[in-house]
Amino acid sequence: DIKGFAFDLDGVIADTARFHGESWHQTADEVGTNWTPELAESLKGISRMASLQMILDAGDHADDFSQADKEVLAEKKNHNYQQLISMLTEADILPGMKAFIQSAKAAGYKMSVASASKNAPMILDHLGLTSYFVGIVDPGTLTKGKPDPEIFVRAARVLNLDSEQVIGLEDSAAGIASINGAGETSLAIGNVTVLRSADLNFNSTAEVTLTSIEAKMK
Ligand code: BG6
Ligand code: MG
Repeated sequence: DIKGFAFDLDGVIADTARFHGESWHQTADEVGTNWTPELAESLKGISRMASLQMILDAGDHADDFSQADKEVLAEKKNHNYQQLISMLTEADILPGMKAFIQSAKAAGYKMSVASASKNAPMILDHLGLTSYFVGIVDPGTLTKGKPDPEIFVRAARVLNLDSEQVIGLEDSAAGIASINGAGETSLAIGNVTVLRSADLNFNSTAEVTLTSIEAKMK
């Protein structure tokens, strides 16, 4: 039986995936990489330094950047991103997610956060949601990021549950791969074609309720 939920943050709870996209778009322009919808999609769920490397690899100038250059670029992206999220409020919770989190809590489910973002604790505070979660996996302590299963394995451990008792919620292909690899039930929010390896698919957060999940699990 399902006893808990492990949530991705950006694009699942918070409407922040577009801000990551905007700030990586600026980085791509700066390093001379052509920004495409496919590149944008492939960066979802990917850690800061790995995202930067993918942007460099997608262009013709990857070899022109030293480790020090990369750190400056990543720092600049994070600075731009933090400007964009500095005004976040409860209104930036994606449709239906506050109600879903509240109803899951009321029904006795345990919840944790499995976000690749080092900004996750601050964002949850801005959204007023921190107290709903048993814990937040610290991405700084991971040996491998999504699509590796490690982060969702850790998210189940935080809940003190077995993988079969956990549903992981994700908006990225890398995240769904991580959930599947961890042996949990994967719930995808977004484009079914991109997220076809998920166990359960939803078009938007507004459709995610305890009732609709139960209906799809049958
Ligand atoms: C993930 C986002 O949640 O966090 C990625 O989907 C982002 O786009 C990653 O790169 C790392 O975030 P941060 O805030 O630590 O740079
Ligand atoms: Mg996400």
